[in-house]
Amino acid sequence: SAAEKGGYDYFMLKEIAEQPKAVADTLLGRIDASGVLSLDEVRIPPEVLREVDKVVIVACGTAYHAGMIAKYAIEHWTRIPCETELASEFRYRDPILDRRTLVIAISQSGETMDTLMALRHAREQGAKVLAICNTNGSTIPRESDAVLYTHAGPEVAVASTKAFLTQLVACYLVALYVAQVRGTKWGDEIRAVVRELAAIGTQVEQVLGTMEPVRELARSLADKNTVLFLGRHVGYPVALEGALKLKELAYMHAEGFAAGELKHGPIALIEDDLPVVVVVPSPRGRSVLHDKIVSNIQEIRARGARTIVIAEEGDEDVVPYADHLVRIPHTPVLLQPLVSTVPLQVFACELATARGNEVDQPRNLAKSVTVE
Ligand code: G6P
Repeated sequence: SAAEKGGYDYFMLKEIAEQPKAVADTLLGRIDASGVLSLDEVRIPPEVLREVDKVVIVACGTAYHAGMIAKYAIEHWTRIPCETELASEFRYRDPILDRRTLVIAISQSGETMDTLMALRHAREQGAKVLAICNTNGSTIPRESDAVLYTHAGPEVAVASTKAFLTQLVACYLVALYVAQVRGTKWGDEIRAVVRELAAIGTQVEQVLGTMEPVRELARSLADKNTVLFLGRHVGYPVALEGALKLKELAYMHAEGFAAGELKHGPIALIEDDLPVVVVVPSPRGRSVLHDKIVSNIQEIRARGARTIVIAEEGDEDVVPYADHLVRIPHTPVLLQPLVSTVPLQVFACELATARGNEVDQPRNLAKSVTVE
């Protein structure tokens, strides 16, 4: 009913709007005033965490994209090798796991069959499994050694939005917590990230307040057949997520690429007026990444692409090459997906609406895939 949707036309719109709160709720009580993380609920003893020599993340769909982003954070902050794999691939390839492997299973519903089978396999090999889950008492957390719940609240729309943002928050918390426990690289950089993470809801709110041009742009592209998405570093999984949303909701051909792979194939797809969304890393700090993607934007634009550029406020380098510019606030490099994903959600939702599609219940899809 309209009341359940809180006055919004679709659950998805309501859930997009709820993201600042969902993110804040997921952070609540987990970082104290002095910036120390307390995740006592993760009942994996510090001595076990100190022994971990490999992290493997398994998930499906949007949760898999959260896991891909987590890999960058975990390796950078903890220096533990980390791989992220689709649960459906992981379980059938005889992966190497042992007692020193920490497996993180990410699932909104806690009922996805492939993810469940992957965690069962991992536990049989002696690995410890930590679930990141949004549904209290569901099967995946029940069968795991420990759980960190996301507090997104119930997510009704099939296409995941607020659950994704809270999965990211939970992954960052786990990565920072493991770094804290092990004392790895725990220094000024991490302290600053913790502070910024604690306040990230405000930035998400800020993005939500500036989405009208994105909706307008989406409506103007309703007749297109293809949209491409490019990103580097954590922007790469964001590009994949932007493309997934567009497939799910707008039933359009959409693909995400690592921008560095352009010349190994994808650039052949560029033709006149093809919309290409580019997620640009912060120009501050790791500017190499930034400069590389600016040249990528130049390259595709020279070949006719219509560039839709998501870039930080104050990033003037992208201006000459952006046919459409979407501004996001500055965040630490690894946290950018928390703000850069939001315009892509709004974009897909509006395109689906413009194409007359059912936003909350896309054809052929289920909220939770409990079969193999
Ligand atoms: C389905 C949903 C997706 C979701 C995926 C994984 O495909 O439509 O939105 O990302 O399952 O679901 P889970 O509940 O495990 O996060």
